[in-house]
Amino acid sequence: MNTTVTAKAHTNIALVKYWGKKDPQLMLPQNGSISLTLDHFYTETSVTFDDQLAHDQIYFNDQLLQPAKAQRISQFLDLIRQRSGQTHFARVTTGNHVPTSAGLASSASGFAALAAAGSRAAGMHLDLTDLSRLARRGSGSATRSIFGGFVEWHAGHDDQSSYAEVLQDPVDWDVQMIAVVLKATKKPISSTDGMARVVATSPYYPAWVQTANHDLDRMRHAIAAKDLHALGMIAETNAMRMHALNLSADPAFNYFTADTLTAIQAVTDLRANGVNCYYTLDAGPNVKIICAGHDTAVIKAALAKHFAPEQLIVAKPGPGITITEA
Ligand code: PMV
Repeated sequence: MNTTVTAKAHTNIALVKYWGKKDPQLMLPQNGSISLTLDHFYTETSVTFDDQLAHDQIYFNDQLLQPAKAQRISQFLDLIRQRSGQTHFARVTTGNHVPTSAGLASSASGFAALAAAGSRAAGMHLDLTDLSRLARRGSGSATRSIFGGFVEWHAGHDDQSSYAEVLQDPVDWDVQMIAVVLKATKKPISSTDGMARVVATSPYYPAWVQTANHDLDRMRHAIAAKDLHALGMIAETNAMRMHALNLSADPAFNYFTADTLTAIQAVTDLRANGVNCYYTLDAGPNVKIICAGHDTAVIKAALAKHFAPEQLIVAKPGPGITITEA
């Protein structure tokens, strides 16, 4: 009998961002990063290695993926086969409970779930640190989705030293995020290509690495002190500096749409009126608002002037990976 293993992993949103690789092959980042794992968005993936298969079969939300789209997943399965000695192809079924549009880090939960289900189905029993190292090879941000709560990914200098660990979990204070899900437009550039371009061409890149390292120190303190204001201000500035890299690349690019700027302005106005809220943005148009749970109603009411209720999704700190075998 072939064992089927299912893993569930939640997305995470970086508060201090990863935006540039030091080693694209090993997926070593230029700087460390800190994130919050969210309860609302997750990926559930089942993997079965089967000697009857002539190639990997990948189903994404019940649809068989065409070879071109399945390639990145198959390459990741090759890495698992290489390490485990497993020789068969795999059937992979993935259910993605993340809005389909860009910028909500579905690759983070996706590769975390695939690393966990795939490695166990291949007969490996990796601990969480090793799983974090393995997930990194699929997508950098997946490194952090192995864990719940506040998580730090140590940049490291080789495969062994680049992994994530928990900073705080459970999160026993009132911090939440509202995802403002904006109209999906085609990404101007993938995160892989965007990162490569800023590292190669932005004259501000060295300053980014320097300030990101400083942000990591300050963010660790803000989380330990449960200080929402400090956390929000550091996250907001860090996010804008990441996007400033894109604006200063050659050729320049950006992920903002008009709606992105509307959401940013709404958050800025709310804060000017005394509401403790802050924004962050990733490689897509969506805006994530960092706030206290008791302020979500007033924030949603203000944003309702511009966005439909279903575009505003409230998420709480979420758990780490779970793995079940059948
Ligand atoms: O893991 P990737 O390649 O999807 O990169 C994600 C990078 C950001 O989401 C923009 C920042 C981060 O640290 O998650």
